[in-house]
This record gives sequence, C-alpha cells and structure tokens, in this order.
Amino acid sequence: MEWPPVLLFFVFHLWVYGCFGCSHAERSALLELKSSMNIPSYFVTSWGRGHCCSWDIVTCNSSTGRVIELELRYKRFFDTDLGDWYLNASLLLPFDELRSLDLSYNKMKGLIDEQAFKRWSRVSKLEELLLGNNILNNTILPHVGAFKFLKILDVGHNKFQGPLPTRGLCKLKNLQELDLSFNEFEGAIPYCLGSLTSLQRLQLSYNQFSGKIPMLSIANLTSLVDFSVTNNSLSGLVSLSSFCSLSKLEDIDLSNNDLEVETEYPPWNATFQLESLRLSNCRLNKHTGGIPYFLYNQHDLIELDLSHNHLLGKFSIGLLKNKTSLETLNLKNNSLSGSFHLPLDSNGSAMSSLDISNNYFTGQLPFNMGTFFPDLGKLRMSRNSFQGSIPPSLGDMWRWGHWTCHTITCPEIVTRSHCLTSVVSLQVLMLSNNSLQGKIFSISSNLTGLIVLVFG
Ligand SMILES: *[C@@H]1O[C@H](CO)[C@@H](O)[C@H](O)[C@H]1NC(C)=O
Ligand SMILES: *[C@@H]1O[C@H](CO)[C@@H](O)[C@H](O)[C@H]1NC(C)=O
Ligand SMILES: *[C@@H]1O[C@H](CO)[C@@H](O)[C@H](O)[C@H]1NC(C)=O
Ligand SMILES: *[C@@H]1O[C@H](CO)[C@@H](O)[C@H](O)[C@H]1NC(C)=O
Ligand SMILES: *[C@@H]1O[C@H](CO)[C@@H](O)[C@H](O)[C@H]1NC(C)=O
Ligand SMILES: *[C@@H]1O[C@H](CO)[C@@H](O)[C@H](O)[C@H]1NC(C)=O
Ligand SMILES: *[C@@H]1O[C@H](CO)[C@@H](O)[C@H](O)[C@H]1NC(C)=O
Ligand SMILES: *[C@@H]1O[C@H](CO)[C@@H](O)[C@H](O)[C@H]1NC(C)=O
Ligand SMILES: *[C@@H]1O[C@H](CO)[C@@H](O)[C@H](O)[C@H]1NC(C)=O
Ligand SMILES: *[C@@H]1O[C@H](CO)[C@@H](O)[C@H](O)[C@H]1NC(C)=O
Ligand SMILES: *[C@@H]1O[C@H](CO)[C@@H](O)[C@H](O)[C@H]1NC(C)=O
Repeated sequence: MEWPPVLLFFVFHLWVYGCFGCSHAERSALLELKSSMNIPSYFVTSWGRGHCCSWDIVTCNSSTGRVIELELRYKRFFDTDLGDWYLNASLLLPFDELRSLDLSYNKMKGLIDEQAFKRWSRVSKLEELLLGNNILNNTILPHVGAFKFLKILDVGHNKFQGPLPTRGLCKLKNLQELDLSFNEFEGAIPYCLGSLTSLQRLQLSYNQFSGKIPMLSIANLTSLVDFSVTNNSLSGLVSLSSFCSLSKLEDIDLSNNDLEVETEYPPWNATFQLESLRLSNCRLNKHTGGIPYFLYNQHDLIELDLSHNHLLGKFSIGLLKNKTSLETLNLKNNSLSGSFHLPLDSNGSAMSSLDISNNYFTGQLPFNMGTFFPDLGKLRMSRNSFQGSIPPSLGDMWRWGHWTCHTITCPEIVTRSHCLTSVVSLQVLMLSNNSLQGKIFSISSNLTGLIVLVFG
C-alpha cells in the first residue's frame, strides 16, 4: 500500500522532532562534536544508531524531545594520545534548550568561533556550565554574563591568568555556585561579586588574588554556604564578625594567605553553625592569642584547623564538649600549654584525626583518650612535653594487632613491614620528642593499618 505524502511527512516529522528523539540539527551536531573531540567509541557505543535521545551521555526532555543535558566529562582525559582540544562553538547553536553542559576533564584549550559562543549565550537556557579541569585561559568568562539562567559555573583547575573579567560575571544574579579555584587569577577579589546575591558556594582558592577580602561585598551574599580563599596572597585584617549576616555559612577557609584574622573583636554572636573552619596560618587573634571563643558553641563542626597560628594559653576541654561530629582537629604548631584533658561527663566525638604536635603541652596523656576517641586513625602529639606513661585506654582505642616491635627501642618510623600485623584503623601515631616512658601497649594488639609510628 502506498502511504499518502501528508502522512509520510507527518511520520518523518515525528521521527525527527517528536517523541522519537532530538532534532536533526542536534543529532548531527552531536556526531560532529564526537569526531572533533575524538571521543573513543567505547564511551558512545550507542551513538549514530536510532534517535539521539537514546544515546549515551545525552538527556532529552521527554515531552519536547529536545536535548537538555550533555554530560561529556572525562571523554578525552585518560587517552594520552589526545592532545589539546578547541570546542567549535557553532556546534552548540542547535542546542537552544540545553540546561546542563559538562565538558570537564577534556584537555579543552579554548573555543573555535568565539562569536558563535556569544550568540549561543544570548539565546541559551543553560543553568549549569561545567568546564573544570581543562587548560582554558582568557576565554568564555567574558561572555558568561549573557547566560541569564546560569546557576552553576565551574572553571576550576584551568590556566586562567590575570585579573578576573567581571563585566559578564557580576551580572549572573541567579548564580548559586562559582568555582574559580586552582587557576592563576590575580589582582583584587572584585567588589562586584557582592551583587551575586544567590551565591551559595564561592571557591576562590589556589589563585594569586591579592589585596583585602572585600568583606562589605561578601557580607551581601546572604545565601552563602561555602566560602574558600585558601592559598592566595590576600592581606589585611578580617574580623569574623563581618560574616555575621551570613547565617547559612557552613564552611569557611581563609588558610595560607597573608591575612590577620580576629575572632573576638568587635563583640559578635555567630548566626551560623559551621561544619568546617580552616584558619591555618592566619595570625589568628594576634593580640589575645586565644582559641576563638565562638567555637565553644559551634556544635556541628566536622573539621577544625587552627594550625600554625601562635595561639597561646591552655586548651580548654569545653572546646570538645558536645562536638559529636568533629572528625578532624588540627592545632599543630601553636604555643598552647598546660595539660590536655578530655571531658569526663560527655561522650567522645567521631574524631578520626587529631594533631596537637608542636605545642607546649605538659603532664600526662589523658587517661580516657582511647574511650573518648574510639575512631581515631591519626594521632600526632610529637614535640610537646608530655610525661608519664601511655594510657592503657589507648589499647581500647585501636583493636591492636600482634605487635612484634615491642621493645622500646623501636626504629623511629615503624612501618607495616616491621610488624606482624592483622587489623585496624590506626595509620599514624606520633609521640616523639616527649618524655613518655613505660610499656606502650600490649603485645596482643592488632595493628594492620599502621603506616607510620614515631616515638623518637
Ligand atoms: C520539558 O519541556 C516542557 C515544555 O517546555 C517543560 O514544561 C518541562 O518542564 C520540561 N521538563 C524538563 C524535565 O525539563
Ligand atoms: C565548526 O562547525 C561548523 C558547523 O558544523 C562547521 O561549519 C565549521 O567548519 C566548523 N569549524 C571548524 C574550524 O571545524
Ligand atoms: C593567558 O592569557 C593571557 C592574556 O591573554 C596571556 O597574557 C597569557 O600568556 C596566557 N597564558 C597562558 C599560559 O597561555
Ligand atoms: C548587595 O546586593 C544588592 C542587590 O541585592 C545590590 O544592589 C548591592 O549593590 C549589593 N551590595 C554590594 C556591596 O555588593
Ligand atoms: C598552600 O600553602 C601552604 C602554606 O604556604 C603550602 O605549604 C602548600 O603547598 C600550598 N598548597 C598548594 C597546593 O599550593
Ligand atoms: C550575644 O548574645 C548574648 C546572649 O544572648 C547577649 O547578651 C549579647 O549582648 C550578644 N552580643 C552581641 C554583640 O550581640
Ligand atoms: C549540643 O549540640 C546540639 C546540636 O548538635 C545543640 O542543639 C545543643 O543545644 C547542644 N547542647 C549543649 C549543652 O550545648
Ligand atoms: C609554625 O607557624 C609559624 C606561623 O605561626 C610559621 O611561620 C612556621 O613556619 C611554622 N613552623 C612549622 C615548623 O611549620
Ligand atoms: C553517651 O551515649 C550513650 C548512648 O548514645 C548515652 O546513653 C549516654 O547517656 C551518653 N553519655 C553522656 C555522658 O553523654
Ligand atoms: C626531636 O627533637 C630534636 C631536638 O630538638 C630534633 O633534632 C628532632 O628532629 C626531633 N624529632 C622529631 C621526630 O620531631
Ligand atoms: C587480633 O587479630 C586476630 C586475627 O584477626 C584476632 O583473632 C584477635 O582476636 C585480635 N586481637 C585483639 C586484641 O583484637
């Protein structure tokens, strides 16, 4: 039977655009993209057969049959024969319904036809643009302002250099996540970032940003959850009280700059409950030298790093009270003194890594150490003035294995191969340069996970 032409056309139309799959233009752009990227065919075995909405990596809207997501991450990363790649931006033009484009880990060096990218950005409905872990420099960012709907922009781990191009960026009122980390951006952190009032995550770490953190502008970002500027060249005084308006903050990382961080003045009350605070090497509380007082009421902390700060005074056990989520505490290289007691009237924490090395702690090791920190995997207490013997509760702490290096003249570093071993979470135990003596732990201990043990 002959099919009437109208019906034929209808069937054809349905096949090309309808519920059968993506548009013809999208289909051929995908195939061109595949060959220009040299995507190894094992990633895209289904490509070329049938309608492209059923292809690997491609996600369509089921009612319109248009491509809404392209997940092309890691497609040319492992194959060392594949060199740099420039994205032909005119291949993006057919995808005007695309919401998410992931081109991370692709050795992408730039764009062919930047004008086409500009045109696409103006009509695009893109919400997520993920370009991390490529080798981009000096491209794309000047045009991102045109992506009206953009919520997530990741250009971390690239080779961007020079000042951050702000004209486009600061227009992105819907932006929730901005990752610029691990590039070579330099100059000031732009004041206009304060207009990105939907921002929840701002990652500026591992660049060469300098000058002051524009706190007035950061304080405008009332949705901010995660703020990280670690390893830049920022300077000046930051008072944590200026984060007060940011009640949703969970993570702050200001480590390894040239900053001076003050937590006590002016007086303030924290509006947030942090999960992670990293203030390593921040000249913390230079004038008072004390452990930040507001931490006593931060009950959700998982990670706390106050290392390399010249902190003075005694360690107050109040800091560890009611911190059942705390997994990592780093107080290394401060000037803390007195004894190191643990709370008796509360349950221990989820601590897996504790470093109090390089301080002036004295006295006995806390006898309840093992019971208070049952999950401890790394313990560094070297370079203090602890005395006395190793508390027996350390034996409860780790399900010790058969410990054959039981003579006290252990080599300074004991590795797994030194011992007949069988179990355990403990990986690092450093107690060197103290005045400890006596029996370390019972010979019947199980110690398989041990990687480093230092007594000195
Ligand atoms: C699919 O497209 C329709 C019409 O544009 C839209 O209403 C719907 O939200 C889309 N669905 C998804 C999952 O994007
Ligand atoms: C980029 O893609 C367009 C559209 O397919 C094509 O016409 C053009 O030749 C491509 N440019 C390069 C340099 O490959
Ligand atoms: C990055 O772009 C800047 C500005 O165009 C240029 O001066 C610099 O040499 C580029 N860096 C690299 C590594 O290509
Ligand atoms: C704070 O955000 C508002 C928009 O909500 C904007 O008008 C203002 O300029 C921003 N202030 C700063 C300091 O960025
Ligand atoms: C970050 O800074 C610290 C201290 O200056 C340095 O030891 C570390 O190597 C830096 N990390 C990176 C990845 O540059
Ligand atoms: C902080 O809270 C305490 C107790 O609620 C209150 O007495 C004090 O005035 C507050 N301080 C500031 C600076 O708001
Ligand atoms: C202990 O922490 C919880 C939140 O984890 C908090 O609700 C509670 O008030 C804290 N208790 C004390 C005594 O501080
Ligand atoms: C200890 O911290 C100070 C800064 O407070 C730093 O200058 C010094 O290099 C650190 N020492 C070690 C051994 O890391
Ligand atoms: C420790 O935890 C146990 C079980 O979660 C609870 O019954 C006990 O009251 C807690 N002890 C203290 C001192 O909080
Ligand atoms: C112990 O202290 C001595 C002298 O201060 C020093 O030479 C040695 O490196 C220290 N050992 C360790 C493991 O810190
Ligand atoms: C040490 O490990 C062995 C074998 O896994 C086990 O039989 C023994 O009970 C363990 N000893 C202790 C003290 O946990």
